[in-house]
Amino acid sequence: MHTTVGIIGGGPAGLLLSRLLHRAGVGCVVLESRDRAYVEQRQRAGILEQSTVDALREAGAAARLDAEGLVHDGVELRWEGRSHRIDFPSLTDGRRVWVYAQTEVVKDLVALQLADGAALHFGAEVHSVEGADTGRPTIRYSHDGQDSSLTCDYVVGCDGFHGVTRAAVPEGVRRTYERAYPYSWLGILADVAPSCAELVYAHSPRGFALHSMRSPEVSRMYLQVPNGTDPAAWPDERIWDELDARFALDGWKLNRGPITSRSVLPMRSSVTEPMRYGSVFLAGDAAHIVPPTGAKGLNLAAADVVVLSRALIRQHRTGATDLLDAYSDTCLRRVWRAEHFSYFLTTTLHTGPDQSPFDTRLQIAQLDRIATSPHAAAELAMNYAGLPLP
Ligand code: FAD
Ligand code: DHB
Repeated sequence: MHTTVGIIGGGPAGLLLSRLLHRAGVGCVVLESRDRAYVEQRQRAGILEQSTVDALREAGAAARLDAEGLVHDGVELRWEGRSHRIDFPSLTDGRRVWVYAQTEVVKDLVALQLADGAALHFGAEVHSVEGADTGRPTIRYSHDGQDSSLTCDYVVGCDGFHGVTRAAVPEGVRRTYERAYPYSWLGILADVAPSCAELVYAHSPRGFALHSMRSPEVSRMYLQVPNGTDPAAWPDERIWDELDARFALDGWKLNRGPITSRSVLPMRSSVTEPMRYGSVFLAGDAAHIVPPTGAKGLNLAAADVVVLSRALIRQHRTGATDLLDAYSDTCLRRVWRAEHFSYFLTTTLHTGPDQSPFDTRLQIAQLDRIATSPHAAAELAMNYAGLPLP
């Protein structure tokens, strides 16, 4: 079997890329190792930047997002019993963010692609990519217990942090930059109305806490916990008491309700360069991951595939490869900006296990600066609401 673009992975990056290519008439096949239900229910990110929403609209995949997504014009920072709101539109020339879960983005894209008869194969596990440095790379995979291969003009690895495509870039060419953090997040979903209209990011001596939401009836919250934490060690009562202590603010009350899911996520920064080798491209988590504090992971994945779709469509229509040749550099500039922002927000808001009182005073000085300087607030707002696509 042959296709123009072989896409490995049917997460947000692979699905959005296939949608954009399919609509432009560029042939593509998506191979996803998991089944549809698993991919649609994997609980992950919840915040879409302005340019991600623009891309979903361009892909004709924003009908439900526009009807059900919650538009947010700001976030609240809390520390030392104080609170400060960052207003996005006034600080960013009108940019905003949407609360719309990754699960819903994935469901919308899967439904549209399947309804259009696009080639999207679940249960297709890729083992290797061969011939990256040729004009005809080959994907080896198994589907329904059968070994198969797919030859392509181009292969795009959208197979996440644990994917196989990165290995198609030879070790002598590939360089990975990494940082691990000495804490994790315990994430919960609760059947209770959010206690706030906008997200709350809280710095506290007990550790970081984040109040987010999924709908007017469902809250999503995160607590900083030590690495290696077992979620079973956190019964409901302990979670609510800890959230109460970390969000404490005069006159504010946290609504409690049944917790329906809990999981622990480690925090890591990683970038692999280059994002292209020969006919093989990397996009999304396959090339880079960020700690979740800045809500950048899903948005970076969407930005990569928008840039790549434009380059592939141009090559398909005109034969010009200039945008494909620029892909890695174009994306990496934006990726490193987001890496820095995610690191900055993470290290400003979390309390490390070996943190000194001096380090804490620096964090408070930075939060005070954001609260008193429109320039510092604008820098945060522009990065959070997302820089425009190149
Ligand atoms: P993925 O979503 O990882 O998709 C990769 C796909 O490739 C998967 O469907 C996988 O099954 C498939 N695949 C892998 N290997 C193969 C193979 N060999 N053959 C075929 N298919 C394969 N970001 C935030 O902004 N906020 C959050 O709260 C947040 N929470 C997160 C929690 C977790 C546990 C994780 C892992 C990530 C979280 N992120 C969060 C990051 C965000 O979800 C990711 O950045 C986003 O999913 C990236 O999309 P992607 O399509 O690049 O990769
Ligand atoms: C959510 C996750 C994040 O990492 C973040 O910074 C904001 C919101 C969420 O899951 O809603």
